[in-house]
Amino acid sequence: MLNKFNNLKIISNPIVNQSLCTLRSKNTDTEGVRLAARKLTRILLYEATKNLPQKEIEVETPIAKFTTNTINPDISIIISPILRAGLIFTDEAVDILPQAAIRHIGMYRDEKTLKPVWYYNKVPMPVDKPAKDYYVYITDPMLATGNSLLEAIRLYVEKGIPETNICCVCMISSPEGIENVFREFPAITLIVAAVDSHLNERGYIVPGMGDAGDRIYNT
Ligand code: URA
Repeated sequence: MLNKFNNLKIISNPIVNQSLCTLRSKNTDTEGVRLAARKLTRILLYEATKNLPQKEIEVETPIAKFTTNTINPDISIIISPILRAGLIFTDEAVDILPQAAIRHIGMYRDEKTLKPVWYYNKVPMPVDKPAKDYYVYITDPMLATGNSLLEAIRLYVEKGIPETNICCVCMISSPEGIENVFREFPAITLIVAAVDSHLNERGYIVPGMGDAGDRIYNT
């Protein structure tokens, strides 16, 4: 796909492609899907965190003192998995960002309207810092219509968190979903491993990987 969006980052390398291949195949069992998804989510999260502000600090090694950059300890990082499939990002996210808070967002997709229906919102107002010091990663493996992602982004934008501090991380996306998200929030960042052909009449991504939640959780 021709990438006409400045803030859309399509990540491609041999490990990403191999993981996608494993995820997409209908012959991959649950264990294989989980392993491939975790490998892929880790790579996508590394890319996503490139937006984090850094700070120069002094470190003393066993040999000498020196000055280096690290993630600014004065910011707060939020990982927001959209339940349930978005949870697959969480284990990798807490490994690489142990300082992050995990704020779950519970939405399911109404099969008829394809609109998100809320059932759980564990996202209070920021309290300990100005909203501009929060950096949010919303995770959902499949960006299909974009409706759930839009709801999640709105939640944070309404709390005053700048769009530029919000990054959505997805494994497989559709052109329709990408358009929808950037139409309303052009300044967020979107990280994906693949942009597929289209959505089918049931709102599934073609070719996609089927129902990500079912394949990850063996349901
Ligand atoms: N959700 C999924 O799990 N798969 C799709 O293809 C679309 C939405």
